Amino acid sequence: MAHFAANPAPLRLTGGGTLAGTVQVPGDKSISHRALLFGAIAEGETRIEGLLPAEDPLSTAACLRAMGVEVSPIQAGQPVTVQGAGLDGFQEPGDVLDCGNSGTTMRLMLGLLAGRVGRHFVLTGDGSLRGRPMRRVGAPLAQMGAQINGRGEGNFAPLAVQGQPLRGTTIHTPVASAQVKSAILLAALTADGPTTVIEPAQSRDHSERMLRAFGAELSVGGAGNTVVTLTPGQTLKGQAVVVPGDISSAAFWLVAGAITPGAEITVQNVGLNPSRTGILEVLEQMGAHISVLNRRDVAGEPVGDLRVCHGPLQAFEISGDLIPRLVDEIPVLAVAACCADGISRIRDAEELRVKETDRLAVMARQLGAMGGRIEEFADGMTISGCTELHGAEVDSETDHRVAMSLAVAAGIAQGDTLLHRPEAAAVSYPGFWDDLARLKQQAN
Ligand code: S3P
Repeated sequence: MAHFAANPAPLRLTGGGTLAGTVQVPGDKSISHRALLFGAIAEGETRIEGLLPAEDPLSTAACLRAMGVEVSPIQAGQPVTVQGAGLDGFQEPGDVLDCGNSGTTMRLMLGLLAGRVGRHFVLTGDGSLRGRPMRRVGAPLAQMGAQINGRGEGNFAPLAVQGQPLRGTTIHTPVASAQVKSAILLAALTADGPTTVIEPAQSRDHSERMLRAFGAELSVGGAGNTVVTLTPGQTLKGQAVVVPGDISSAAFWLVAGAITPGAEITVQNVGLNPSRTGILEVLEQMGAHISVLNRRDVAGEPVGDLRVCHGPLQAFEISGDLIPRLVDEIPVLAVAACCADGISRIRDAEELRVKETDRLAVMARQLGAMGGRIEEFADGMTISGCTELHGAEVDSETDHRVAMSLAVAAGIAQGDTLLHRPEAAAVSYPGFWDDLARLKQQAN
């Protein structure tokens, strides 16, 4: 659970100054969850290097341990080992499984548990997670025979899963969501025949890559890789997984480097999976000075170092199939848009309303308090550029990506910003505030 102290101290962020140096962002959150989950259902040991030691993956590990899976302690810089329990090895937990703030934990876990015949599981989470829609996973799983009950006709946690035999089928998902796709693929592993997932646009494909690496039989096709078929029957084998740095965490430094006068930042070891690199395309479209250095392949995922420095920016327009490829970066792109020449437009991004917070409303409110000129729409926003932001009293509203986006904005604002609930950053980037202080110091 994302534990926030009753009255934690707000953080004072000084405006002005610049940023310089090299930073290594922590491991990719999506890949970290999957390495733990797939390791748990494999046979033998999985050894994970670079696992993200943050609250969200800790929630996944805690749920797995509660079902008898041995996961070694998760500490920064230490490899993590998972002793695979096999596809049918989970014990029925003696208590409710707590997914904390993590939508990925809850949604993937639903897929993983739906087919554990004869066992009962209850999943819950913090206030944010209990308000997030789960029927998008429950409904396709029900098509496979799953039995999942919860508040709001099965839409909201706490959710009860009664394990059932599952049938392979073809499922069209209404939203391009890697969490939904991955839940179906995990359930498909124990179905009685092949399962095909057809997405409206491709979402991140880490599950497909890693399931294949663990030995699953999986084919990907269709226009834009939107059709994925998993055929059950293979035994998954424990693997050595190397988790690259999270491009969604790197995004804060990329935008900070691009908008902060005098800044020059290198972010090392960043995952560059094409289903995640929309942010780079938009920053290039804006004219940002970004270069990719040292491109390489690490354990089935493309990786590189990113160098960014300050320069003039043009407004951007984003919509359609690009949105799933940068969905988590939209809050910080809103900050970049304030510094660009022209009006930036974000469309087809209604998914942001059901993230850890309603990120369209929260960014419009919080960045607006700093002078951002934002017009909010049902599925996006327009942001007027060439706006001088000013320091203000703002709030992460418990959302990690909002906290870090506001910190980037505070750096270029006139005067100081007082950020309430900064500790939310620990959900995905526990060292963010230390890295920010270091990059500021190195610039002096
Ligand atoms: C994730 C998928 C995305 C993303 C989330 C992590 C994943 O959510 O926003 O932070 O690991 O599969 P959706 O699948 O709901 O788009």
